Amino acid sequence: MAIAPSLAYLSRTREIDTRYYDYIRLSTLELISDEINHRNIPGSVAEIGVFKGKFARYLNYYFPDRDLYLFDTFEGFDNRDKKKELKENYSAADQDFSGTSVQQVLAIMPHPEKCIVKKGYFPGTASDVNETFAFVSLDTDLYEPIYNGLVFFYPRLNAGGYIMVHDFNNEGYKGVRDAVIRFCTEQKIGYTPLPDKAGSVVIAK
Ligand SMILES: C[S@@+](CC[C@H](N)C(=O)[O-])C[C@H]1O[C@@H](n2cnc3c(N)ncnc32)[C@H](O)[C@@H]1O
Repeated sequence: MAIAPSLAYLSRTREIDTRYYDYIRLSTLELISDEINHRNIPGSVAEIGVFKGKFARYLNYYFPDRDLYLFDTFEGFDNRDKKKELKENYSAADQDFSGTSVQQVLAIMPHPEKCIVKKGYFPGTASDVNETFAFVSLDTDLYEPIYNGLVFFYPRLNAGGYIMVHDFNNEGYKGVRDAVIRFCTEQKIGYTPLPDKAGSVVIAK
């Protein structure tokens, strides 16, 4: 961890891992986690779309006392979601995310005892989750799980909580943008685009 070069006016140390490939994404997470933790916003943390856990490990680091739900097939995209991608010309959905495992992900977590792994197809894997949340990362790339993720998590997000959606402004995964705009229009809520590497948006409650 290194001290962040920006926001020096904050009278606290900001720990940002400069080895992470996307400074803006991680720096935003650090600021949000500080808001949530210092305001004592209740709730668990979740990521939908974990792959090797490279972002999830920072969720676990910045929220060391909270349960962290990790949702992924751990076998890559599901054909049920791929159909919609091809039909709407959102993406080819041909990236291979099969090269991971639950064991591999847990091995890089700083607090693995706080992790609750939900392996399989989302949203089915959420059917027994009776929790509220303070922070959720949606990073499934495809329209269906992004829309279903917002439908599931937004009502369970506590006031003062945040959802970060990766790939909103990513031309490679056009369905993410459609899913976010559909949900936010239906719910009459806003979002803030970030200038990070994948064009994330942040939804605050
Ligand atoms: C881009 S990767 C996640 C990357 C990770 N968040 C990171 O920052 O390193 C997308 C992941 O979403 C998962 N995924 C996509 N659709 C899913 C679904 N319907 N249910 C469960 N997992 C899904 C894939 O298996 C893949 O591992």
